[in-house]
Amino acid sequence: MARSFKGVQALRGVTFELGQHEVVGLIGPNGAGKTTLINLMTGFDLPTSGTIELGGQDVTRWRPARRAKAGLARTFQHGHLFGGLSVRENIELGALGVGARSGEARRRADDLLDALELRAHADVRARLLPHGEQRKVGVGRALASRPSYVLMDEPAAGLAESDIEPFAQVIRSVRDGFGAGVLIVDHNIALMMEVSDRIEVLDQGRTLARGTPEEIRQNIDVAAAYLGSSGVTGASAGA
Ligand SMILES: Nc1ncnc2c1ncn2[C@@H]1O[C@H](COP(=O)(O)OP(=O)(O)O)[C@@H](O)[C@H]1O
Ligand SMILES: [Mg+2]
Repeated sequence: MARSFKGVQALRGVTFELGQHEVVGLIGPNGAGKTTLINLMTGFDLPTSGTIELGGQDVTRWRPARRAKAGLARTFQHGHLFGGLSVRENIELGALGVGARSGEARRRADDLLDALELRAHADVRARLLPHGEQRKVGVGRALASRPSYVLMDEPAAGLAESDIEPFAQVIRSVRDGFGAGVLIVDHNIALMMEVSDRIEVLDQGRTLARGTPEEIRQNIDVAAAYLGSSGVTGASAGA
């Protein structure tokens, strides 16, 4: 698929597939097109050309809410929480938004408050949390919809180093427990290498490389050796 914005080709000829039961890491420097890809997959933006399929169905013209009800959830790189609502209420909305009853929404939020180590903030207004914690709330809201697929846009940005391992555990449990497919975009290369079953590298709207974390690591090393600070290295240094 492709997407251009007035002369800027944000994505050109990219094909991307996410299966259930897998974690796919998407890396690339700022401006590579990562958020655009998530926007197209979730219906927050329309491709200039190409189609989006969900479970074998062409959903290119479906609005985001319809895709969400069909099992596709996302988190946002910036904001999108209800700042005046509590952390718990924000997470419950993820369940209510896809038609869960209030009791069920409360149970799911309870589980996620523990899994994401947000319990201490449950009754705090979302806008009062540090940005890293806000992103975790966004992850909680996405997971509360019990998605078949969840696309996470820089969910670990701003997290303390000590929060990274528990967060990696949450991602693995989304795959292994819910059996969902996870697309994760993040600049924390150590996290990406650890949680991803496979990794795709995007650069200037094109797929530059795809492979196992080990293959990509070697690729990055090669790029670092031969290209200095350009190319893929920009991704690894882009945090
Ligand atoms: N709504 C928009 N209008 C104009 N240009 C955009 C818009 N969204 C993204 N772009 C451009 O598309 C390119 C890819 O952006 P983006 O997908 O946000 O990259 P990434 O998430 O990898 O940092 C960038 O050059 C960006 O400036
Ligand atoms: Mg982005």
